[in-house]
Amino acid sequence: MCVRTRPAVGASWCRLGACRPETDRCTLLETDRFPSWSRHMSAHITSNIFVVGGTGAQGMPVVRALVADKKYSVKVLTRDAGSPRAQALVALGNVSLLEGTFADEDVLREGFRGCDGAFINIDGFNTGEKTETYWAIRAYEIAIEEGVKFFVYGNLDYALKKSGYDSRFRTGHYDGKGRMAEWVLFQNEKNSDRMGAAVFTSGPYIEMVISPLTPMTPTVEDGVVTWRVPLGQGAVPHVALEDCGFYVRWLFDHPERANGMDLEVAIEHMTYADMAAAFEKVTGHPAQYIDTDLDEYWNSPDLTGIADHPAGYNADPDDKSTMSFRDNFTGFWNVWKHGIITRDYALLDEIHPERIRSAEQWFRREDQVGRELGKGSLWDRVQPENWGMDSAVLKSSADFRTGTL
Ligand SMILES: NC(=O)c1ccc[n+]([C@@H]2O[C@H](COP(=O)([O-])OP(=O)(O)OC[C@H]3O[C@@H](n4cnc5c(N)ncnc54)[C@H](OP(=O)(O)O)[C@@H]3O)[C@@H](O)[C@H]2O)c1
Repeated sequence: MCVRTRPAVGASWCRLGACRPETDRCTLLETDRFPSWSRHMSAHITSNIFVVGGTGAQGMPVVRALVADKKYSVKVLTRDAGSPRAQALVALGNVSLLEGTFADEDVLREGFRGCDGAFINIDGFNTGEKTETYWAIRAYEIAIEEGVKFFVYGNLDYALKKSGYDSRFRTGHYDGKGRMAEWVLFQNEKNSDRMGAAVFTSGPYIEMVISPLTPMTPTVEDGVVTWRVPLGQGAVPHVALEDCGFYVRWLFDHPERANGMDLEVAIEHMTYADMAAAFEKVTGHPAQYIDTDLDEYWNSPDLTGIADHPAGYNADPDDKSTMSFRDNFTGFWNVWKHGIITRDYALLDEIHPERIRSAEQWFRREDQVGRELGKGSLWDRVQPENWGMDSAVLKSSADFRTGTL
């Protein structure tokens, strides 16, 4: 059924993030205007989707987008069905929970069974790169065996390859996914009639620039919101989480086009000088970007304690394959500083005409949404004295990087 044929929708319907508060228009309705699968029924239309990572920063808007109009039912894997995030998903309706870990074949099998779709975002900050590689492969293999019809792999850019295999850009939590995305698409060349597959390549969440416990958490210095990061004149293609929900939903809605696709998304490539200027413009309060060399960055009070720990909190620190936070995020910042990653913004405009296109637009929207949710203004929200664990956008940070593999 095409979403256009659904009854008129009220404001509360659109938890998809497809309605823009500033226009009150639902972009999903617009982009789905001529769904080609309604003319050529694809073998890969799905209705029950198994989601790994559903309680996470990325997974929450993805699940919201999938169930917003009850087109899809979602089974979310979580290690703790009683967590507030898991319960918030259940409250959406059309969401069930499966308790367990992705690092267990029986659990994966139970998750995929009875589902015809899958969205798999394996948490590399839990596993580390090596273990993520194994479970990404097994997730794909078990999905196909259990009869899943469309598999969407939550991905990040294969930075090392895109840099021409230059170790300055080696970023374990990117490369670990990026390699597997290529592997998934390679398998899909043979398997796509049995199970279609798409890759969803996102990037650093813009929500992290106003959140505690991230690589770009701001400080407030003499009343000036300050980002001290080793970015030089580079630019970060931040992504907006709500738009991630839209894009993943689009992949499931358009299997005939999505099959074999690597959908690489972002708001825009934003320099932090421009990002700070946008923050200033929206909030009316001063903000600045200070280019910081890597040594100073790693010696900052927030990072010095964690710099030499494994990037993945359950990765073996004695395994030579394990990257430290310092090595992992040094590569990460080099990637943005040297412009290694590109995006096709024209394609994104076509797929999501009402997508968020600038830092300023995101700040404006987030300021409004935050006030409506009682979180206060954007300015209030970056004051460290106002931070609680609810302020951390990443669940793993809110959980203090603990939890089982
Ligand atoms: N930070 C970014 O900007 C960014 C951007 C794009 C992609 N990523 C990637 O996304 C992944 C993390 O997802 P996120 O960003 O949404 O982080 P997050 O907010 O910390 O969420 C982590 C998610 O992974 C789940 N999880 C962790 N270990 C699990 C296990 N053993 N079994 C089952 N589920 C498990 C958690 O579920 P429970 O705790 O409920 O079990 C939660 O849903 C990482 O691989 C990261 O590299 C990050």
